[in-house]
Amino acid sequence: MTRMEKAARRATPQEIDLQFQYMKRVRDILSDGGPRLAWVVTYGCQQNEADSERISGMLQQMGYGRARAAEEADLIVVNTCAVRDHAEKRALSITGGYKHLKKAKPSLLIGLCGCMASKPEMSSRIRKSFPYIDFVFGTEMLWRLPEILYHVMTEEKRLFFPNAGDPVVAEGLPVERESPFRAWVSIMYGCNNFCTYCIVPYVRGGERSRAPADILAEARSLVEGGCKEITLLGQNVNSYGKYGDDGCDFAELLRRLAVLPGDFLLRFMTSHPKDATRELVDVMAAYPKIAKQFHLPVQSGSDRVLAAMNRRYTRDSYLSLVRYMRERMPDIVLTSDIIVGFPGETEEDFEDTLSILREARYDMVYSFLYSKRDGTPAAEMENQIPEEIKGERMARLLALQSEIALEKNLPLVGKTLRVLAEGRSRTSAEMFSGRTEGNKVVLFEGRDEMTGCFLPVRITRAAPFTLWGEVVE
Ligand code: SAH
Ligand code: SF4
Ligand code: F3S
Repeated sequence: MTRMEKAARRATPQEIDLQFQYMKRVRDILSDGGPRLAWVVTYGCQQNEADSERISGMLQQMGYGRARAAEEADLIVVNTCAVRDHAEKRALSITGGYKHLKKAKPSLLIGLCGCMASKPEMSSRIRKSFPYIDFVFGTEMLWRLPEILYHVMTEEKRLFFPNAGDPVVAEGLPVERESPFRAWVSIMYGCNNFCTYCIVPYVRGGERSRAPADILAEARSLVEGGCKEITLLGQNVNSYGKYGDDGCDFAELLRRLAVLPGDFLLRFMTSHPKDATRELVDVMAAYPKIAKQFHLPVQSGSDRVLAAMNRRYTRDSYLSLVRYMRERMPDIVLTSDIIVGFPGETEEDFEDTLSILREARYDMVYSFLYSKRDGTPAAEMENQIPEEIKGERMARLLALQSEIALEKNLPLVGKTLRVLAEGRSRTSAEMFSGRTEGNKVVLFEGRDEMTGCFLPVRITRAAPFTLWGEVVE
């Protein structure tokens, strides 16, 4: 296949305009019946949070207000995740809980979207077993929500739109962001990597990148509007632009973003180690607006397991990149994802994972018990690991990582760090919470007007997952 054949199809201006026409039609329908409220529930990763902000933006444009709880909603949209079994079960059980709301208010519409709703098999299962779900749309269909909702409303029948293998890049649709000072900006969608455990490529479609000009325009307008932190999103940001024809790869995109005027920080996730280059590290080191923070999921420390996972890097090549990163940016905050109990993982393989934690010295690790996903190669592998062994390994991993995290946090005590204040802490309302440039959580005493500001905070105490400090006035 040539590069051009793999470039993403872009929704045409006519197609986007058609969605705006549907938004108007829905608005007209709603305007007859007084104010309408929508409730959007989101599971899964940042990509889903970003998608939900698009859904909310379109709903607002269609005349929906924001419900404060599911109970008062006229429309509920559940944006689901399929990455682990637990995530799917949770989404289905919460949706099951809405059944009684529909009994009380028969006009209530319930929609299911996101990764779990993308596979045609799942869509048929929902059609049969969840009669109270009115409509389903896959990730590739998200930009057509106005059209879908219009048809659901006017045809008065249940409608199902799983992915159909036609992913597009759609620009210019409305977005309603959760925060005025932190924003997600998707730079690419989908994934072509097919790690053997992972469902994402099957539910998010093929990899496709947005045009650099569209990303730059979005970032510029965010910063002009007072946004202080932009996180670029993609399943593998390092392959940004790979199938485009203008030669702007991820390192170049970062360069162009990092010179935009204004006081803001740039973050990005996720990076696949096989595609993270030294050039990317050099760009990070060179520009002060790029946060010195890197999420580089290793998944396992064993070469044998990495090969079975189809990760296409080795322990050595990974660690050599980490060494280079630390040479160029000694204070870099490094985080990772680990899967515990991949099929065939031996005690020795697992010890390799523990030893890579010691060598890479991560500030934070997100660890997951391997979960079998139908349709992925690893689900068919022999030697699935029993749950009790997975659990026992996980406990050892957490204990080790918590020691390392504390060792990494203790030297920060006494230092003054630049912290973006996020507002009152969700865990203790008297405290304010914020994040360091390395994305570590800091609790401190603050005032409401500090929200959304960069503040100098002197660190006074450290635990494995939290720092405490005081604002240096
Ligand atoms: N694109 C990103 C991550 C996407 S999913 C990347 O390549 O790193 C987020 C994390 O979920 C993965 O890094 C992996 O650690 C975990 N994960 C994915 N599939 C899983 C499965 N079947 N069981 C357990 N964890 C899984
Ligand atoms: Fe899944 Fe691998 Fe793609 Fe990440 S890179 S989304 S882990 S297939
Ligand atoms: Fe889940 Fe889909 Fe993200 S499967 S982790 S919401 S890409």
